[in-house]
Amino acid sequence: MKWENVFSWEGKVRIPQEGRFIELEEDKSLIVPNNPIIPYIEGDGIGSEIAPAMLHVVNTAVEKAYGGHRRIYWVELLAGDKAEEKTGQRMPEETLEVLRQAVVAIKGPLGTPVGKGGKSLNAVLRQSMDFYSAIRPVYWLGQPSPIPEPQRVNVAVFRENSDDVYMAIEYMPKAEDTQKVREFFIKEMKVSEYALPEDCGITVKPMSEYKTKRHVRKALRWALENKKKVVAVVGKGNIMKATEGAFINWAFEVAKEPEFEGRVITEGEPAEGQVLMLRVITDQMLMQLVLKPEAYDVIITQNLNGDYISDLASALVGGPGFVPSGNIGDGYSLFESTHGTAYDIAGKGIANPLSLTLSGAMMLEYLGWKESAQLIYEAVRRAIEDRLGTPDIALGFRKMGVQSRELSTMDFAEAIAERIG
Ligand code: NAI
Repeated sequence: MKWENVFSWEGKVRIPQEGRFIELEEDKSLIVPNNPIIPYIEGDGIGSEIAPAMLHVVNTAVEKAYGGHRRIYWVELLAGDKAEEKTGQRMPEETLEVLRQAVVAIKGPLGTPVGKGGKSLNAVLRQSMDFYSAIRPVYWLGQPSPIPEPQRVNVAVFRENSDDVYMAIEYMPKAEDTQKVREFFIKEMKVSEYALPEDCGITVKPMSEYKTKRHVRKALRWALENKKKVVAVVGKGNIMKATEGAFINWAFEVAKEPEFEGRVITEGEPAEGQVLMLRVITDQMLMQLVLKPEAYDVIITQNLNGDYISDLASALVGGPGFVPSGNIGDGYSLFESTHGTAYDIAGKGIANPLSLTLSGAMMLEYLGWKESAQLIYEAVRRAIEDRLGTPDIALGFRKMGVQSRELSTMDFAEAIAERIG
């Protein structure tokens, strides 16, 4: 599939003259030209198969919605296996520089080579631009799912992305450092040896007011803009008072800030233009998501809980292969598929392109190009309604006793593109 607005890497990054970079206003809102330059990273494994599929669907939707008046100029950046092969580095400095300049970007999955050491490239990317909220809107588009009424699931999970146990402050069992940390707690802080036995490992779980509040503000603004009704702040605050408990309290403080006064309520029925904010304990939420998923529209939570909750929610609608995601900071954003590199099926042309394609649609919404995003959602729904899909989707239908047609990654993308408009 050849698109003249896709500038693949050819010995160097090619910045198209016809495009313009997105810029940020002082308040961090986006200034989006009609010809934005948007970088894409194919990713490892199935990345080189699902990325062209996404580009084809997104290009078709933009063309259909705006008839040439708007057009994305895609610039390929290298990272992961392809970057190592071409440049000797897994994350070339040039990639980070262009990502920063471009403000908005999209990527496929990046593998973390086992036993090679080094930080995960995903962590490097998330931290280099302080993408502090990970957003996973989970909704059902007709695909096979393990529950009888998946249409009841429509929830956006806002996972804090810059705090919590992911900061990798870890002390391994029996290491010298660990004994120092233990000693400090036992001697200085009067913690019992029962709580910190000699052979224990220790993981530190930091959580800060500043990081929590910026994340909560982002989630509440999104909930209000998208006319959502019920927002749950989720954590195990009854056990981890200093971290998840504090997170919940800070979230309710944000609700009282002038920006949200009268618009975020904490009891009663939300009226037009209002959201109701509730607190829910993590284990309760995991149960509720299965038993009455329709009860919540938005979940605001910490990094680790967000990981568990978003995976459970994704499973309810058929798995991570169907769910998009966005990492968003102060304006800067990186959209990405939620699954991994699927090395086991790479190169066969059978990978499901929906997670990355729907992330592309989510990116269009973020640009304010909602009409084109809507075209993609409707086209995916129609393709699935017509019982078309990659082998994983076809298998799901077979298990339900429903006939379907099995397509390659690119043919499925073409089937979606044909249903646009
Ligand atoms: P995985 O998601 O790559 O694979 C799990 C299973 O799901 C495999 O059987 C695979 O074939 C299947 N699968 C995944 N995506 C699929 C798709 N689009 N279509 C059809 N089938 C699909 O998870 P795994 O094996 O745990 O991770 C492999 C690598 O990916 C690791 O190096 C991991 O670190 C990385 N990874 C990267 C992520 C990212 O870049 N955001 C997220 C998750 C994992």
